[in-house]
Amino acid sequence: MSILVTGGAGFIGANFVRDWCADSDEPLVTLDALTYAGNPENFAGMAGADQHRLVQGEIGDAALVRALLTEHQPRAIVHFAAESHVDRSIHGADAFIQTNILGTYQLLEAARAHWQGLGDAARAQFRFVHVSTDEVYGSLLPGAPAFTEEHRYEPNSPYSASKAASDHLVRAWHHTYGLPVVTTNCSNNYGPYQFPEKLIPLMIVNALAGKALPVYGDGQQVRDWLYVADHCRAIRRVLEAGTIGEVYNIGGWNEQPNLAIVTQICALLDEWRPRPDGTSHTSLISFVKDRPGHDRRYAIDARKIERALGWRPSETFGTGLGKTVRWYLDHPEWVAHVQTGAYRAWVATQYDKR
Ligand code: NAD
Ligand code: TYD
Repeated sequence: MSILVTGGAGFIGANFVRDWCADSDEPLVTLDALTYAGNPENFAGMAGADQHRLVQGEIGDAALVRALLTEHQPRAIVHFAAESHVDRSIHGADAFIQTNILGTYQLLEAARAHWQGLGDAARAQFRFVHVSTDEVYGSLLPGAPAFTEEHRYEPNSPYSASKAASDHLVRAWHHTYGLPVVTTNCSNNYGPYQFPEKLIPLMIVNALAGKALPVYGDGQQVRDWLYVADHCRAIRRVLEAGTIGEVYNIGGWNEQPNLAIVTQICALLDEWRPRPDGTSHTSLISFVKDRPGHDRRYAIDARKIERALGWRPSETFGTGLGKTVRWYLDHPEWVAHVQTGAYRAWVATQYDKR
């Protein structure tokens, strides 16, 4: 028995791989293209390292995926691999279309061919878990009910449109061919190993470096935030007991405006790493030009997964954010290594003259 994880060297994937190998003896193969977001250092010092194999490659490489499925005979594919950053998708959508849509299509085809060739018992057991986002549902007005699994798809960014397309392909491969899929749509994750282009790690690393904290627009855009280990636990639960063909929304019951998030990060750093001049890190907050087409609010109704699978988040935002800020304080080498020339070029593209 083994599982194949795509995108396992990225933020959520690496947390999933680490937790899996710490909690179970079952071998796990990671297929990851090691783009700017994929980092083998995310596996450093992990428990159960000898049950994990990292293969560098594209999900769209049909021959490679076929060979991996034949060699390892995994009982499941957990599909994290994606281009995942909205701002990058605004600057250039090509990689998003290639990986999220065409790559998912190729992966589904390889999974289908493999699954159709299995014997009865293995066929019945096989699962394809597709990890997606709440952003496919679009933006909510203040006070509107949170997204349920029945909410219509209204993606607004190139990123969310490409993820929505991948969700539709996954659905179609189930309805048309019977591929045993389960899809999850989760809200914003935060925690260790998140690349510092997303809100929370960007604010932590900028604050530690005494740099401006760039809040888009008025900072009143609302997101639901979930600690990454809770998301990984939900995916394990879906893999174990999710109903084939179903969709499960995953969220933290934790809606907050961006400015409140940044203020809480500053408060923790004021306590744990006070600035030499005694001023608060909040003095670094700088309101910058808004993101084009910026979704105002996301909120997840996570009652279905609680009812059906007994999953609820275990961290509060206070405990999760504390662990996250502490992790970045304790891992300056990881932060330094990811802030390479390519990272600096991205920061210049995105924030200079904003
Ligand atoms: P990430 O950008 O940190 O990691 C993505 C990983 O996929 C990287 O390791 C990258 O190298 C790999 N990858 C990219 N293109 C590939 C390709 N063509 N073939 C193989 N590997 C490839 O992303 P993340 O934040 O860990 O998100 C993982 C998944 O979860 C994504 O599908 C994302 O849409 C979804 N998701 C993320 C969030 C969030 O808040 N981060 C929330 C909900 C859902
Ligand atoms: P992000 O982490 O990019 O996730 P997403 O866009 O997928 O929700 O952004 C979270 C929120 O933070 C979003 O409303 C945009 C905002 N934001 C900023 O205000 N400043 C920043 O520098 C970044 C990266 C994001």
